[in-house]
This record gives sequence, C-alpha cells and structure tokens, in this order.
Amino acid sequence: MIVVTGATGNVGGELVRTLTSAGERVVAVSRHPAPLPDGVPHHVADLADPESLRPALDGADALFLLVAGDDPEGILSAAKESGVRRVTLLSSLGVGTRPDAYRHAESFENAVRGSGLDWTILRSGGLNSNAYAWAASIRADRTAAAPFGAVGLPMVDPADVAEVAAAALREEGHGGRTYELTGPSLVTPRDRAVAIGAALGTPVRFVEQTRDEARAQMLAFMPEPVVEGTLAILGEPLPAEQRVSPDVERVLGRTPRPFTDWAARMVGAFR
Ligand SMILES: NC(=O)c1ccc[n+]([C@@H]2O[C@H](COP(=O)([O-])OP(=O)(O)OC[C@H]3O[C@@H](n4cnc5c(N)ncnc54)[C@H](OP(=O)(O)O)[C@@H]3O)[C@@H](O)[C@H]2O)c1
Repeated sequence: MIVVTGATGNVGGELVRTLTSAGERVVAVSRHPAPLPDGVPHHVADLADPESLRPALDGADALFLLVAGDDPEGILSAAKESGVRRVTLLSSLGVGTRPDAYRHAESFENAVRGSGLDWTILRSGGLNSNAYAWAASIRADRTAAAPFGAVGLPMVDPADVAEVAAAALREEGHGGRTYELTGPSLVTPRDRAVAIGAALGTPVRFVEQTRDEARAQMLAFMPEPVVEGTLAILGEPLPAEQRVSPDVERVLGRTPRPFTDWAARMVGAFR
C-alpha cells in the first residue's frame, strides 16, 4: 500500500490516479478532504504534525512525501516505525541551484537521504500548473500577467512528475537516485499565454509585470527568501535552471509532455 501526501494537489492528484490505474492500493493524505477516485481512502493529516500521519501509515510499504512542516525526521521515523520501506520525496531544482533560498527543501532531502529507507528524490522544475494563477484573469478578460515575459524555463507537466514518482514508488532501480525533472524545451510566460489562447480558440493578451509588481503579488503567499529566489529563477535563470534534463525520458522511456499538451488538457479551468 502506498501513502500519497499532497494527494489533492496538482502532482499528488495525478499520482493517485496513476497508481490506482496501475492497480495499487493508495491512501490519500491532505489537511482538507477533496474529491478522490472511487475507493481511495482519505486521511486528514498535517505534515507539520508527524503524529497525525500515523493512522494513514499503518500497513504502508511506500510513502510519497511533500516538503511541508519542519520535522522531516519526525515524519520519516513515523514512516519507518509503521513498516514503510520506500520513500519518494518531491523536492525542487532550486535546492541544487539556489541553496540559500531552498534550505527548507534541502533539510527534507538530507533527512530522506539519512533515513535508512530506500529513497528517491525528485527535484522538480517549475510546474505547468503554476499557470492556474492566470485562471481568473483569463476567464474574466483574456489577460495573463507575469514578469520576465521573454525568459524561457523548461517547465514540467505535473502528470510527468507523477508518473516518475509512480515508477520510483513501484519499481526497483530508483533507490539512492536524485532525478531532475523538466519539460522538453524552454517556454516563456508569453509562450504559455499563447498556448492557453490556442487551446481556448481565442487569444490571451500577455501583460508584462515589473519585478516589483510580481514581488508584491508573490509575497502574499510565499515567504520572502523564496520570493527572491523565485524572482531570480524567473528573471535571471542560471544555465542549470534552463537545462532540459534527460531524467523524465530516462525513467519513462518517452519524452516529457510539452506545455501545449497541459494547456489542451486543462483548458476547462480557463474557459
Ligand atoms: N509549483 C512549482 O513550480 C513547484 C516546483 C518545484 C517543486 N514544487 C513542489 O511540489 C509540491 C506540490 O506541488 P502541487 O502543485 O502539487 O501543490 P498543490 O497543488 O498546492 O497541492 C499541495 C497538496 O499538499 C497538501 N498539503 C499542503 N500542505 C500540507 C501539510 N502541511 N500537510 C499535509 N498536506 C499538505 C494540499 O492539501 P491541503 O491544503 O488540504 O493540505 C494539497 O493536497 C509543492 O508543495 C512544492 O514543494 C512545486
């Protein structure tokens, strides 16, 4: 049995679907219940309180773990004591490229590596689903605002991250590996607005934000060091942040899905 934390999110939701379609027994964990595929039990638990996870972990073989809370060692001890043998952590590319801004995720990576469990770390690039931030404005007046409209990053499809996670959780051969997960090519914010417009069949107007406008918006839901790190990645990406990684293809045996594919699948959110 596999416990999926963050099971109602963009990556976790795809992972629950992928695992259940493959016939796995899955227990879904998040702080708030939300619709799940038929037959998937849900446990309310908060990663900030490792004890709250114990009922979900009972009888589990594997754990898909998000970076949340401040006690990764406590989460991993609870998992080990419950008989979990394998853990896959969803981390960020930024741990390798912007260590100062990603200390929190780094502390989870260190705990996972030192856990004694069979571990795999997934360092994800920016998720295509970040474009949901535009859903309200695209629905309202067909506009999408972002800074650094001409700077491309190899954004990744949450469904590809989920498929790699499913492989790491179910198959041998991924233990002790840290995978970098990106999409197949660089896409700029302007490209993303165009792709959503194409999926809608009506153009989306891109509005270039200043750095300060973007910072003010991000500070509403991200801590300050993460905002500065994110702005640096979006505006002045390092070569390592623009590199298309071969890891999705290595694990899945196919190229990662392009942003246009995500936009076509998720177009309903922008109508
Ligand atoms: N967005 C990016 O570009 C990006 C890039 C690299 C890595 N990542 C990593 O990927 C992760 C998943 O992204 P996503 O888009 O799938 O996230 P999401 O859609 O926001 O979903 C987050 C999920 O985690 C649950 N959750 C959040 N805090 C929790 C807690 N303290 N205890 C238990 N469950 C908790 C949420 O449900 P409840 O709110 O109900 O608990 C939800 O199910 C992010 O958290 C981030 O660490 C993201």
